[in-house]
Amino acid sequence: TKKNTTIPDNFLWGGDISAAQIEGAWDEDGKSPVEVDYYLGGDVNTPRYAYIVNDEGDEKKVLQWSGQIPKGYKYTLKVGKIYPNHFGTDFYHHYKEDIKLLYEMGFKALNLTLSWARILPQGIAGGVNKKGVEFYRNVLLELKKYNIEPICILYKYDMPAFYVTDFGGWSNKKLIDEYYEFCRICMTEYKDLAKHWVTFNEINILTLVNDGNANTTIKDTQRVYEETHNQLVASARVVSLGHKVNPEFKVGCMVAGTAAYPLTPKPEDVLATQKFMEKNFYYFSDVIVRGEYPYYSKNIWNSLGIDLKVSDEDIKYLKDGKADFLGFSYYMSSCVSNDQSGNSNGNLVSGEKNPYLKESEWGWQIDPMGLRWFLNELAQRYDNLPLMILENGLGARDTLTEDKHVHDQYRIDYMREHIKAVEASLNDGVNIMGYTMWSCIDLVSMGTGQLSKRYGFIYIEVNEDGSGSFNRYKKDSFYWFRNVLKSNGQNL
Ligand code: BG6
Repeated sequence: TKKNTTIPDNFLWGGDISAAQIEGAWDEDGKSPVEVDYYLGGDVNTPRYAYIVNDEGDEKKVLQWSGQIPKGYKYTLKVGKIYPNHFGTDFYHHYKEDIKLLYEMGFKALNLTLSWARILPQGIAGGVNKKGVEFYRNVLLELKKYNIEPICILYKYDMPAFYVTDFGGWSNKKLIDEYYEFCRICMTEYKDLAKHWVTFNEINILTLVNDGNANTTIKDTQRVYEETHNQLVASARVVSLGHKVNPEFKVGCMVAGTAAYPLTPKPEDVLATQKFMEKNFYYFSDVIVRGEYPYYSKNIWNSLGIDLKVSDEDIKYLKDGKADFLGFSYYMSSCVSNDQSGNSNGNLVSGEKNPYLKESEWGWQIDPMGLRWFLNELAQRYDNLPLMILENGLGARDTLTEDKHVHDQYRIDYMREHIKAVEASLNDGVNIMGYTMWSCIDLVSMGTGQLSKRYGFIYIEVNEDGSGSFNRYKKDSFYWFRNVLKSNGQNL
């Protein structure tokens, strides 16, 4: 049906991929292992975990998202076990074919990660890995060939693992300098190939998993807030850096969109929802956009018993490094009640089930209208600062038919309704710079490590154990999305 939409010509429309989830080639051409390379696959009921060992040979398991491991321990791999991120869906060896398919679909933008562990595998001390730099140059040149605008994410669940064991991860301020140097290399090397940069993916992840995810092993809230602070400072410094490298760069940061409604109109629930949003989303976006901690942050710290040291230097970094745009991911919404029991699943938070919404097989509650509402909320809060939806999609089990088709009408339905919501927001006057779908190509699920939790428009023939042809097939959603893009959103 023809509609009257106002999608701007320069709208960054396309999809997302992420290095640690799609590339495979985990130890090729000088790359060092990233944290998730040590995590085994799981499923909706089985959390992912890694093995760690100390010099005395004492072995332990750590659950995913812990981000911290006890002193003296190192990650270790077990022979005979399957590590899904080691092979991913092998973008490393298929990128030309994959990018051509994205072009065929009419992509205007691709949101991708540049992997720290490929470019600076052993940190500053180990020097630059030329092969890593070359790989992303080739990828970016391939995108340029097809006029697909890259949006480069500099950190997405892919920190070189030795930083966790040898540096203590983000709790160590030295990591800010390491990350800054990695970003400096990327921004200067690819100065003429990429204009849009995202400093961190889902920068609220550490506090979210510390709080809401029963699966994490370590819950040291003081440390988690310090780590998060270091990331916010690192992000701000890289925004300033980007502006120095090329004043035309647009540098933003990304927050997991924890959109939440009160479960009931009870004032206690409404207030609890406001507090929930402050703690889980606005605490981050306010710093990113406004360059300082918001007025309510002191209450958050006090209520958690946290003493956060924010130096004058950090205050200045935050102030100088305000983002050009705010990115967020959006899969679902949740409900908050004052007497929470948390009976619904989610990618990062669990809340109360909304009786008006359906959910995916993984229990994520599907809420297209919530996206319009959330976009408008952010536009109001930030005086219509440019927003980017940097992830939205449906994880589902797809079936490849004998004649190599995938009839994923459920994904088309999900996407159509969400695109309608974005178009409605644009018509509301919200300043949306771009909208990229997770994940345009099948890859390994971050939360469960499954290959069978698929999000792509492009199907990849690979099984949980890494067997398979790795052939690429176009799903029904591929043809549908091509139509949407070619008509600039008119044909849904
Ligand atoms: C987002 C992450 O939160 O959710 C992605 O940025 C992730 O890395 C996506 O893959 C979907 O979650 P999952 O657990 O289904 O892979």
